[in-house]
Amino acid sequence: MKKLFALLLMLAFATIVLALDKGPEEIDMTGVFDVPKTTKKAVVFPHAFHQQNNECKECHMSPEGGKELRNIKTGEKLEVGTVKGTMNDVHKNFCWECHTEKKVPGGKSCTKCHKN
Ligand code: HEC
Ligand code: HEC
Ligand code: HEC
Repeated sequence: MKKLFALLLMLAFATIVLALDKGPEEIDMTGVFDVPKTTKKAVVFPHAFHQQNNECKECHMSPEGGKELRNIKTGEKLEVGTVKGTMNDVHKNFCWECHTEKKVPGGKSCTKCHKN
């Protein structure tokens, strides 16, 4: 009886873990922000890849993920205006900031992200 209970508990736990929404494996970043005109190739963000070595809450305000992203510089909610030019908020306060912090090789090289 005890064993059966333990087994049921394990099953319930496994179901909860499977049900956790980890979001899409890849995300077209042009659709996430207000990008009126693309002068560069669209960025396909490898979301699942980033989940391997980074904590959800490094990028998300909530540990469950979702639409509210974190400003890597300030830790506050990321506010992105119109994305235009190379000195845009997405580069400065999100992608580039973490890549610099974590010393990602070629982390700011244009073709690493704008490549499709
Ligand atoms: C770490 C990833 C990353 C790197 C490296 C990167 N970008 Fe971006 N860039 C983005 C994201 C994400 C956006 C916003 C979404 C989009 O435009 O697809 C963006 C948007 C832009 C935009 C505004 C939209 C457009 O297409 O005109 C420009 C201009 C731009 N990047 C230029 C550059 C240049 C120049 C470099 C190299 C010095 C560079 N980027 C390197 C991720 C990156
Ligand atoms: C390196 C940064 C980064 C990490 C780490 C990360 N995410 Fe994300 N995630 C994003 C970005 C960027 C988006 C696109 C946000 C948007 O669509 O507004 C996203 C989108 C999502 C979405 C879809 C949101 C929606 O409503 O469309 C979910 C769910 C999600 N993430 C969950 C997670 C979970 C759970 C983890 C940890 C296991 C995680 N993320 C780790 C950057 C990250
Ligand atoms: C919280 C930290 C963090 C943020 C934010 C972040 N990255 Fe990264 N990214 C990494 C790390 C760390 C690596 C190096 C790979 C590794 O060892 O995990 C990486 C690697 C990459 C790679 C190379 C993938 C490969 O296959 O080698 C791409 C492309 C990339 N990031 C795009 C982006 C874009 C686009 C954004 C912004 C939308 C972004 N990253 C935001 C941490 C981050």
